[in-house]
Amino acid sequence: MKNEVNIWLENIYEFLKKELSLLEVEMKNRLSSVTNNKIDLHNVFNYFFDIRGKRLRPILVLLSAGLVRSINSKGLVEKNTQIENEIQLAAALELIHNSSLIHDDIVDESSHRREQITMNHKFNNKIAVLVGDLIYSHAFLIMNDLKFPRISGILSECVEKMCQSEINEIISPYADFEQYIAYLDAKTAKLMSTCCKCGAIISGANETMISALGEFGTNFGITYQLIDDYLDDEQPQKFDVNLLLQAKIYSGKAKKNLENLEDNEHKKHLMNLIRYVMDKQNLKLKSYQDHCI
Ligand code: FPP
Ligand code: MG
Repeated sequence: MKNEVNIWLENIYEFLKKELSLLEVEMKNRLSSVTNNKIDLHNVFNYFFDIRGKRLRPILVLLSAGLVRSINSKGLVEKNTQIENEIQLAAALELIHNSSLIHDDIVDESSHRREQITMNHKFNNKIAVLVGDLIYSHAFLIMNDLKFPRISGILSECVEKMCQSEINEIISPYADFEQYIAYLDAKTAKLMSTCCKCGAIISGANETMISALGEFGTNFGITYQLIDDYLDDEQPQKFDVNLLLQAKIYSGKAKKNLENLEDNEHKKHLMNLIRYVMDKQNLKLKSYQDHCI
């Protein structure tokens, strides 16, 4: 599913062009500062950047932060330090996301991700687990520099929940619909919700906005994972669930979460992010049609 960028996502990349290119520079600088003479990590990090994803978590941070900033600073000139903080936060969350995937590939013994060989297969489990740890701890170093204790707390809680849920899933896999949704929440939506919530906090949002954006991230994340499971043919076997219908329900909830927030360009693109995810379902139809031709 390498070329799955659609028009909604293209528009978001264009809208956040400046911030996303600064994010790439920031992440490269950050990780090159971690390499040292004793261990040649250049190869490993170069590979890490080769298997980059769609940067959805940074997009959630930047759109949520921008949405609040636009509301709070009407007519005022944007402060550079504010944007810099947003980029640092986006970098930290992308690094946490990537470390979770590196660890997940070790746990799942996966050989491929994003159509490329995983870290554990390219190098080995020992290198992969330690690189995952290294990237993860660097994310917390960034958070420490940002000096937002509330954000650091939310991030730690988020990772704790992700780890607990992965352990639970190994010991006693989900058996009903409620447990399935709770698993999707912990595995995917919790981090997405954290991106939105922390993006809002860093822009000085009030509690109503923080909670609306946090809820949006949860419902968006569950929608995202339902569609992903649908596309990967990961239909739960133990109970009956219509993945597309559920995705529609959760995407409706996500739209509703944004309803009471003032309209602006950032909000428009958050709404379009839901469209991007819901449109992904057509990929399956398209691949089926291509197959039939
Ligand atoms: C992918 O699930 C798994 C995740 C997105 C989360 C994995 C979480 C952890 C390993 C714990 C968190 C760890 C850190 C260091 C933050 P999947 O295997 O169902 O999907 P896949 O097809 O993407 O592999
Ligand atoms: Mg996996």
